[in-house]
Amino acid sequence: MMIIDGPARLSGELSVQGAKNSTLPLLAGALLCKGQTVLHNCPDLSDVDTAIEILRHLGCVCRREGHDLIVDSSITCHEIPEELMRRMRSSIVFLGAILSRCKEARLCPPGGCELGPRPIDLHISSLRRLGVQVKECGGWLECSCPGGINGAYVSLSFPSVGATEHLILAAVCGKGTTIIANAAREPEICDLSEYLNRCGGRIYGAGESCIIIDGVEELYGCEHRVMPDRIAAVTYMAAAAVTGGNVTLRDVDNTHILPMLSPFEESGCQVRQLGGSLNISAPRQLSAVRHIRTMPYPGFPTDAQPVVMSMAAVGEGTSVFVENIFENRYRHTEGLTRMGARIKVEGKVAVVEGVPELSGAAVEAADLRGGAALIVAGLCARGSTRIEGTEFVKRGYEDIGEKLALLGARVKVFESC
Ligand code: UD1
Repeated sequence: MMIIDGPARLSGELSVQGAKNSTLPLLAGALLCKGQTVLHNCPDLSDVDTAIEILRHLGCVCRREGHDLIVDSSITCHEIPEELMRRMRSSIVFLGAILSRCKEARLCPPGGCELGPRPIDLHISSLRRLGVQVKECGGWLECSCPGGINGAYVSLSFPSVGATEHLILAAVCGKGTTIIANAAREPEICDLSEYLNRCGGRIYGAGESCIIIDGVEELYGCEHRVMPDRIAAVTYMAAAAVTGGNVTLRDVDNTHILPMLSPFEESGCQVRQLGGSLNISAPRQLSAVRHIRTMPYPGFPTDAQPVVMSMAAVGEGTSVFVENIFENRYRHTEGLTRMGARIKVEGKVAVVEGVPELSGAAVEAADLRGGAALIVAGLCARGSTRIEGTEFVKRGYEDIGEKLALLGARVKVFESC
């Protein structure tokens, strides 16, 4: 639980954490490598802890030294317990890595934030294309590929981030060549491919819609620095924006921020990008963010939609959101409305009429990025905002309460966050 006394005006400097969404597939990649992998800039998050628990369960030795995570890879088991699978959706990518090493795997479908139906059909059909036999028995997936993974041409019907990562992990040590058409182009795919290539993999075209993987016999662990978290960065930018603040973010990759700049420009913020850092200076009164349409990269990311909606809630004028990636990604609108925001949701469209000020209220986070949106709103709301369910936020933001307090927010974090 978190209590925020607003309004605040944020100012100062902040270092942005390593990317959660990159760390998880990188840890699945470490499972494929002989010897030791050292991941630098590894964020301290509950989802990362879950991935470490999975690796340990499978037989790896993992230890953390600050933001370095050291994995000595070895695999003694091909099953992931249900409790670990249910904790997060991205645990599914371990399946391909286990299959690659053991030729068999057993796990149950993954859990994670409830963002509407989140099927794994693309993951399963892709593995089948690589010669994996997948059986569903009593809620478990039983997979095997006695002859190993066979390279194949796989065309994804949607550029799924998880399915693209999963295919890369499954195919990098497979036989022959795998071609992924309509691959996701997110920067996290590039981070995973760079790491695997440094370990000896032959992956070409990451960041493009067609990825070619020439299977190799073995991979050897190496050192890798996790890319900066672009969604954490945009969250702190939104926090600066709603508070009329002036904040400098260090350790950002500015090319990854470009697809998210338009709402900041529309709302009247000045964003200056300098090398690996970024300064945002916000006006006292934000304008509407106008039109946000979530799309696969390099479009506007769905993960940034909730925090930008908190900006729209206090931006003068009307903003329209179209959520194209997930069906149930407007659950933060209930809390925002309780704080005085004027939002109408109709299917995948949300229309936000900016109000001059939000008021503190008791609200509840329903998912990770929605929880972050409520925190951003709480920073600019007058009075006290009490946010329950911040354990969702802990899944993706390292010490968010402490970081905001350093920038001048009045935040109290209780127990679970
Ligand atoms: C990843 C990110 C998540 C982000 C999302 C979209 C991680 C750990 N998570 O999630 O933060 O919001 O990308 O940028 O990296 N789909 C199917 N069948 C499948 C797989 C996906 O229908 O087998 C659908 C999903 O339901 C969703 C869409 O494809 O509607 C996008 O999902 P996907 O890109 O796979 O997202 P994730 O990898 O789960």
